[in-house]
Amino acid sequence: MKAWRVHELGDPSKVMSLDEIDQPTPGEGQVLVKVKAAALNFPDVLMAMGMYQEKPPLPYIPGVELCGEIVESGQRVIGSPSNGPGAFAEYALMDKDFAFPAPEGLSDEKAASLYLTYQTGYVGLHRRAHLQAGEWLLVHAGAGGVGTAAIQLGKAAGAKVIATAGGPRKTQVCADLGADHVIDYTAEDFVPIVKEVTGGHGADVIYDPVGGDVFDKSRKCIAFEGRLVVVGFTSGRIPEAPANNLLVKNYSVVGLHWGLYRKHDPALFGMVHEQLTRLVEEGHVDPLVGEVLPLDQAPQALAKLADRSTVGKVVLVP
Ligand SMILES: NC(=O)c1ccc[n+]([C@@H]2O[C@H](COP(=O)([O-])OP(=O)(O)OC[C@H]3O[C@@H](n4cnc5c(N)ncnc54)[C@H](OP(=O)(O)O)[C@@H]3O)[C@@H](O)[C@H]2O)c1
Repeated sequence: MKAWRVHELGDPSKVMSLDEIDQPTPGEGQVLVKVKAAALNFPDVLMAMGMYQEKPPLPYIPGVELCGEIVESGQRVIGSPSNGPGAFAEYALMDKDFAFPAPEGLSDEKAASLYLTYQTGYVGLHRRAHLQAGEWLLVHAGAGGVGTAAIQLGKAAGAKVIATAGGPRKTQVCADLGADHVIDYTAEDFVPIVKEVTGGHGADVIYDPVGGDVFDKSRKCIAFEGRLVVVGFTSGRIPEAPANNLLVKNYSVVGLHWGLYRKHDPALFGMVHEQLTRLVEEGHVDPLVGEVLPLDQAPQALAKLADRSTVGKVVLVP
C-alpha cells in the first residue's frame, strides 16, 4: 500500500516520502481499515518537527484522524489510528473499541473531521470549563480546525460566542458559522472590544489554541469566575499566568489534554461521540471542510496548515 512516512524530524513538507509498504496486519483488539479520508491537524506539523508531546519512533506514518471502512465488515468508522498517527496511508489499523460509527449524514471528508477537534472542543467546553447556556464564550483562531468546532459547539450549548481570527476572510468564516460577534485580532485589540460587547462583564469561558500574546491579553478580558482553557500554542510561545493575577481576579486557567482521557477515562470517547452524533443529527454540528486534496499532496497540505492559510479542516483523500 501507499503510505506517507516521516523518516527524520523536520519541516513536514520536506521530511516525508510516499513509500510503498506492506499493508499492516491487525493484532489483538484491532481492525484493518481502508482509509476513505484523513483530516489534517496542527499536531501533524508539530509531531514531524519533534515539537509535540507524542514522539513516535521513526519512521512513522503521520495523520491522527480518519474516516475509513473496516475491511472485514464494511462498516464506516471514524477515529484515530492505533497508537496515535498512521492515517496518511491507504490502510490503517484502529483499536476496535475506539473506532466509532461515522454519522450517516456526513460525507467521508466531514466525518473524518468530526473526531479530534470536536472531541477536544466538547471535553474542553463541557467537562473542563463547564460552559453554561447564556454565558459568553470567546474562541480564538475561530476559523481554524479547533476554532470552527468550538464555535459550533458553543452555539449548540446556548452560549453567546465571540470569535477572533486573522483577517477578513477568516472573520467571515466565523460569522458564517454562527459567531455572534467577530474580531480581526490581527487588526484590532480584542480586549476592549470583548469588554464592550459583553457590557463590561468579560468572557466567561475563553478557548485558546494560540497562546503567547493572545493568552496574555485574554487574562485582561476574562469575567469574574471565568475559565481560560489552554488548548494549544500555535503562536509558538508558551505563556504564563501569574498566581496573584488569578487571585485578585477570581478566574481559573484550565488545562486541556484530550488524548490523556484514553488513560484516565476511556469511556468518555464513546459518550462524547454519541453527543456529537446527536448534534450532527440535530443540525448543530456540521464540520467545515475548507479543502480536499489527494493523498499524494500531503506535504503541500501540511505546508498550508503551518503557514496559517487554511480555514476549517484540510482533508486528504487516497
Ligand atoms: N489540547 C488538546 O487536547 C488539543 C487537541 C487538538 C488540538 N490542539 C491544539 O490546538 C491548536 C490548533 O490546532 P488546529 O488543528 O485547529 O490548527 P489550525 O486549523 O491550523 O488552526 C490554528 C490557527 O491558529 C492561528 N495561529 C495564530 N498564530 C499562528 C502561527 N504563528 N502559526 C500558525 N497558526 C497560527 C491561525 O488562525 P488565525 O490566522 O486566525 O490566527 C490558525 O488558523 C494546536 O496547537 C493543536 O496542537 C490541542
